[in-house]
Amino acid sequence: MKHLTGLSGIPASRINEILDRAVFHKDLFLDAESAIPPALQGKRIVLAFFENSTRTRFSFEIAARNLGAVTLNFNASSSSVTKGESIVDTIKNLEAMQVDAFVIRHPSSGSAEQISRITDKHVVNAGDGTHEHPTQALLDIFTLRDYFGSLQDAKIMILGDILHSRVARSNIFGLTTLGAQIGICSPVSLLPADTDSLGVRVFTSIDDAIRWADAAIVLRLQLERTTGGYLPSLEDYSLNFGLTDERLEKIRKHMLVLHPGPVNREIEISSNVADRIQPPGYSKSVMLEQVTNGVAVRAAVLEMLFAETTKAAKLSTNK
Ligand code: CP
Repeated sequence: MKHLTGLSGIPASRINEILDRAVFHKDLFLDAESAIPPALQGKRIVLAFFENSTRTRFSFEIAARNLGAVTLNFNASSSSVTKGESIVDTIKNLEAMQVDAFVIRHPSSGSAEQISRITDKHVVNAGDGTHEHPTQALLDIFTLRDYFGSLQDAKIMILGDILHSRVARSNIFGLTTLGAQIGICSPVSLLPADTDSLGVRVFTSIDDAIRWADAAIVLRLQLERTTGGYLPSLEDYSLNFGLTDERLEKIRKHMLVLHPGPVNREIEISSNVADRIQPPGYSKSVMLEQVTNGVAVRAAVLEMLFAETTKAAKLSTNK
């Protein structure tokens, strides 16, 4: 596995291998006394972000540096992209400076896959349009596995703007591969056309979805993508699909609450629900645990991709 561009088609054995290794990295990361093995010493990793990010960019940077790599931050708005340079030319020019990997975020769906076809360096998809965000899903799955042990038959609802969500797609692929049941809950206008092929239950009532689920992954309402008459109003969305204490208390449901961030407080989730980490209550938010887990999961992904190249190189030298 040279690249990670999505979780579609990735087998359970591979996902579990990454998650198991992430447990090792989390323990080291949280223990200030432990030295992390510098598996990527001297490697140059370009963080090529053509779209804004806080969690993904910083966690890749911390993970890569902890492993001994040098990180190079590419910011589209201060690059020659503003003069019309294409993404392919940009990547080719960075490649000519002998970098070893690209972590790519881009607003176009399929861009990470496209880059992986034109470079012999490693490519990791850090979110491409509405297509996939595989490391976000891996850290969500890591967090869920930490709580439930096994994900076999765990009931996970994904709530919100499914149509525009790369996080939803990657989670559906990864979680179903591990045996979880997925329920998606969304206004009909924000459901994807390929719902039937995704192997998920569809809820249009949030109360029904909450009754059914063990955990909720609440999605950000993508305000930058939802113009065009998808919703009557934000107030209407919040009233009918916002995860609030009132709703959880009505159903008396204790559930685990995840959110990939950034959060639109009081739109898709109330602050009470987003911030509650202690029982008693009817929910527990693990949103900041997700962020910590992101560093460990991304370290495991980078290490795995580079390890496989080293293994392949050794094999070809020994021939
Ligand atoms: N979850 C996520 O992708 O957050 P950022 O956009 O801050 O990276």
